[in-house]
Amino acid sequence: MNIFKSYTAWFIFILSLISSLTLKAQLKPAPQLGKNTVKEVIAAMTLEEKATLVVGSGKAPKPKPAGNGKPGVSNGWVPEPPMIGHTETKVPGAAGNTTAIPRLGIPSLVLSDGPAGVRISPTRKGDSTHTYYATAFPVGTLLASTWDPAVVNTVGKAFGNEVKEYGVDILLAPGVNIHRNPLNGRNFEYYSEDPLVAGTMAGALINGVQSNGVGTSIKHFIANNQESNRNYNNSIVSERALRELYLKVFRIGIAASNPWTVMSSYNRVNGVYTAQRHDLLTTVLRDEWKFKGFVMTDWGGGYDWVAEMNAGNDLIMPGRPDQIETLINAVKHDSLSVKVLNQNVERILNIILKSPSFQKYAYSNKPDLKAHAEVARKAATEGMILLKNRGNALPISKSVKTVAAFGNATYNTIPGGTGSGEVNKAYTISIDQGLANAGYRPDESLKNTYTKFFQDARSGQQPRRRFYGEMPVSDSLIIETAKKNDLAIITIGRNAGEGNDRNLENNYNLGPEEKQQFKKIADAFHAKGKKVVAVLNIGGVIDMNEWQDNADAILLAWQPGQEAGNAIADVLSGKVNPSGKLATTFPVKYADVPSAKNFPGTPAERPEQVIYEEGIYVGYRYYDSFNVKPMYEFGYGLSYTDFAISGLKLSSATFNGIITATVNVKNTGKFAGKEVVQIYVGAPAKTIDKPMQELKAFGKTHLLQPGESQLLTFTIRSADLASFHTDNSEWITDAGKYVLKAGISSRDIKQTAVFNIPKAIMVEKDHKVLQPEVNITEFNARKQVGK
Ligand code: BGC
Repeated sequence: MNIFKSYTAWFIFILSLISSLTLKAQLKPAPQLGKNTVKEVIAAMTLEEKATLVVGSGKAPKPKPAGNGKPGVSNGWVPEPPMIGHTETKVPGAAGNTTAIPRLGIPSLVLSDGPAGVRISPTRKGDSTHTYYATAFPVGTLLASTWDPAVVNTVGKAFGNEVKEYGVDILLAPGVNIHRNPLNGRNFEYYSEDPLVAGTMAGALINGVQSNGVGTSIKHFIANNQESNRNYNNSIVSERALRELYLKVFRIGIAASNPWTVMSSYNRVNGVYTAQRHDLLTTVLRDEWKFKGFVMTDWGGGYDWVAEMNAGNDLIMPGRPDQIETLINAVKHDSLSVKVLNQNVERILNIILKSPSFQKYAYSNKPDLKAHAEVARKAATEGMILLKNRGNALPISKSVKTVAAFGNATYNTIPGGTGSGEVNKAYTISIDQGLANAGYRPDESLKNTYTKFFQDARSGQQPRRRFYGEMPVSDSLIIETAKKNDLAIITIGRNAGEGNDRNLENNYNLGPEEKQQFKKIADAFHAKGKKVVAVLNIGGVIDMNEWQDNADAILLAWQPGQEAGNAIADVLSGKVNPSGKLATTFPVKYADVPSAKNFPGTPAERPEQVIYEEGIYVGYRYYDSFNVKPMYEFGYGLSYTDFAISGLKLSSATFNGIITATVNVKNTGKFAGKEVVQIYVGAPAKTIDKPMQELKAFGKTHLLQPGESQLLTFTIRSADLASFHTDNSEWITDAGKYVLKAGISSRDIKQTAVFNIPKAIMVEKDHKVLQPEVNITEFNARKQVGK
């Protein structure tokens, strides 16, 4: 105690205290993510570290401007981004990574495609002992055709397990862009022409994937409905069509599942790149919808990195060093505020905290591929659609033993589309293998002829193409096979993917030789009293008109994933009764498609803009309101059994904010089967123009045994019935008479009931956003403009 009596001693004591505190502060470790709060971590980050976090870890140099052009909207030149993402770090073949900042305990995230399975490299340099194949699940269009969120959720769970076990943090899927036009090369990845079906099914997939503790990225936000000039094209769309269709699908999907991230799209909407639109990424997504995750660009999307940050596009992918520089300079020169950048960083860090990489999850690289193949096979059978079944040609009669299987895709079966939606799977079961596995005997000489054709094609004796033209089958071989076999199966195959839209001729429309050959085969088999079954192994809609009369039965198998052949044989043989329904319309002819005149935009060579003149009239909303008969309507699909729909009851004849409809489904046929009941509502169109009817709810029965019934219940709320009134930016459920219809397709309505809304309900007031710069003369069902 004595020493404190002297001032000197006091002085020395305080000095040593200060210096020990300073030393402690100097030695104090930097805040660590997880141990310290996100805010504390951000406060400790340098500007360089922040800019590094919001730009992916890609190393590509800045692309050189073409000619004397400068990137931007004014002169139409944008740097070509990489086609699809590919990285060699962490998980080889994944699409991209974020940058780790070890000083602050921030790990790098691994982001991987895609919508039908994890896209990573199946083999690795210096690792000859292990393979990294992923399961190729059925494509999005097939998943949507199940109309069964439970099935899609099961796929999501298995899918997400592979994401996690391969060391990936965020899956770059699902893609939910509306099927606006059948020629979009990426329609196979997407779900439906209807936002309720697409949003609900995508939500089910996301919930399944994310139940594994990994993330998803719902994409491509928004109005990315074509591949032609996708990095520059401007989608000109009314706010109402955006609100009711193109935004709605994301809104439903996000509300159902809280995806960790959203991916903005490549295109411009009403003049501005989506990644640079504050009204889209902040006003709508965050303020109105309360989305809590982060937004990333598509790979190379947009061109103004500062605008992207300001808009709320938090992460720039795949990232380039010059983009980091640009952001640092922007903060230094005040065109980007630290506050905005901090917010971008915060959103990313909040997701990193949840990620397997942050939690140092010890992934196995050994997901249960066998079990997942079973999931893929089962889901595939649930989404296949029986379009036609003349004389009960299907299921294949028990007397059939030998099968003549025609068509390139019988042997070279297409499991899924190309581009970032492709999966490196261990195998694909071809249709002929599937038939053989199911106990049929596919004609050997036919198989050998096709096998030789592919060998020649590969060795360059045929033009080397991704999609070889259909193999011509000689007349004599057709006659011989018709004699020898009990049944003909003809597969029509189509493949497409990222970067290109499909052609109308020889793709959407069958080529003349393809049609002619189909007819010759059918005639030869019919002449012998034998049936002809067509299998459509396609990712998007094709023309049916000029060939389908030649087929007794048509199974729309879509692109069913790696178990394709087995799943197709399951349905053809009757092991599984088909229960898929169209989530996208097959028109009579392409010219009937409401966007046919506005796809892919103008100028035709390299479209710079596409005007969505059809407005809200996409798919069945158009066909039904404008009295255009489709070939196979939305919601359509046959079964091997019959169902009776009866006893439609509403909870009340007057709407009081919510209404419940119940309907009974009975299996009246001989096979066990499932039916999908679809609830369409026709709303009063006194205040604004409205579609004749819109899907408001749907439900699928369980497997009903012959004679068995199930009561399905549907709940509809005011928000479900509201339309967007652009003038006041209000969602309004108008007063008047509503007709509720229970159908098994949009045109096969079994029961109707009426309810009344006494007074208009203003459900929601939104911001005025995303306004088109030009006047769009939209289709109007009341005036029948555009018909
Ligand atoms: C595609 C995205 C994909 C990304 C990463 C882009 O080209 O449009 O859907 O997720 O590449 O591979």
